[in-house]
Amino acid sequence: MSPFPQTYLAYRRSPGPSPGSPLSLTRATEPFPNASSLLPRQVLLKIHAVSLNYRDVAMQNGAYPLPIKPDGIPVSDAAAEVVAVGRDVTRVEIGDRVTVIVDLKNITGKEDDGYASPGVDYDGLLREYAVFDEEVLVTLPRGLSWEEGATLACVSVTAWRALGLHLPRERGREMERVEGRRVLIQGTGGVSIFALILALAAGLEPIITSSSDTKLENLIRSFPDGAEKIKGYNYQNFSGQVAKVAELTNGKGVDIVVNNVGTASILDDLKSLVVRDGTVSLVGYLDGLKAGWNHAELAIQLIKKAANLRGIFCGSRDELQDVSDYLEEKNIRLGQLVDKVFEFGQAKEAFDYLESGRHVGKVLIRVSSD
Ligand SMILES: NC(=O)c1ccc[n+]([C@@H]2O[C@H](COP(=O)([O-])OP(=O)(O)OC[C@H]3O[C@@H](n4cnc5c(N)ncnc54)[C@H](OP(=O)(O)O)[C@@H]3O)[C@@H](O)[C@H]2O)c1
Repeated sequence: MSPFPQTYLAYRRSPGPSPGSPLSLTRATEPFPNASSLLPRQVLLKIHAVSLNYRDVAMQNGAYPLPIKPDGIPVSDAAAEVVAVGRDVTRVEIGDRVTVIVDLKNITGKEDDGYASPGVDYDGLLREYAVFDEEVLVTLPRGLSWEEGATLACVSVTAWRALGLHLPRERGREMERVEGRRVLIQGTGGVSIFALILALAAGLEPIITSSSDTKLENLIRSFPDGAEKIKGYNYQNFSGQVAKVAELTNGKGVDIVVNNVGTASILDDLKSLVVRDGTVSLVGYLDGLKAGWNHAELAIQLIKKAANLRGIFCGSRDELQDVSDYLEEKNIRLGQLVDKVFEFGQAKEAFDYLESGRHVGKVLIRVSSD
């Protein structure tokens, strides 16, 4: 007799979307995948926890700029247990703790076959069980809770690339080369807190911004030696932030800006960089995609500072595995990332809470309690 149930629970979006008409989340009963008829390289996963990203809310609101699967299962980021494997599976074993990559077509970073993302144009992970090919799985660091593990898929590798931590390996150099670099991290959402954790682990000197003094104080206090190692300021107190960054860096500027705000701040970001060879990593669009700057001034800043403007779109499976291995090797826990955990039946509340912006780090949903 099969050890698995006949059906499992999932959430699906209502069909759509259209701008200004939000989608609803509907609880659905799905037929259980047949574990004995998995394709040779398929893996059956039991989902333990998922974490939400800003884009999950943007899709519900019709604000996401790319096509999405009508009535698809939302959410891309999960921590899951391998419960059955196809006959040719070699990368994982039953009992392994894994996550699914966010771009299913980005395995090594060299593929040229477009994109496919769970929770976007492919059914996602807000469900009790799922089947994926072994090649899109990454093993999680040992020692993390299911909730901590569910934070990795998107923001860890996004932060890793935004900080340039993928570059030493790509260029065959030691990670120590990045030590002492100053980094400006915008806001206190999931990307930012992962960037802060990685920056501290790699010996970078972070400055983090928030609209809330209380969030900043609590965040800095939550890290050992936070007051010495982390600088922060409330971005709502400044119209342009270039002078504030200069003040906090003795006039030197920062080596990297992790831009979550979007195009609006790019000119200020470039002005905040060190005199040469700094990088603005363009990650997000929290302030939309407006741009009040003059293109000539932007070009001058880019040239004068020999600056890099780098677009970030998560990362490959191999890079995500690098991040996971790095976390395990350095024994890094992710407690500061876990803001609030909702139960599976409270999925809608979890989406609303993320949308409210009251969180610091990640908003999670516990899918299985065993
Ligand atoms: N390119 C990629 O691969 C990639 C991957 C993941 C996410 N993203 C994008 O990156 C951005 C951040 O994602 P996330 O998941 O970290 O979002 P999130 O968890 O929703 O974080 C949002 C936080 O950013 C801060 N914020 C909001 N508006 C801001 C503004 N105008 N200026 C400065 N800070 C602002 C707020 O922090 P305070 O309350 O502290 O002010 C807010 O809580 C989003 O646009 C997301 O779509 C891109």
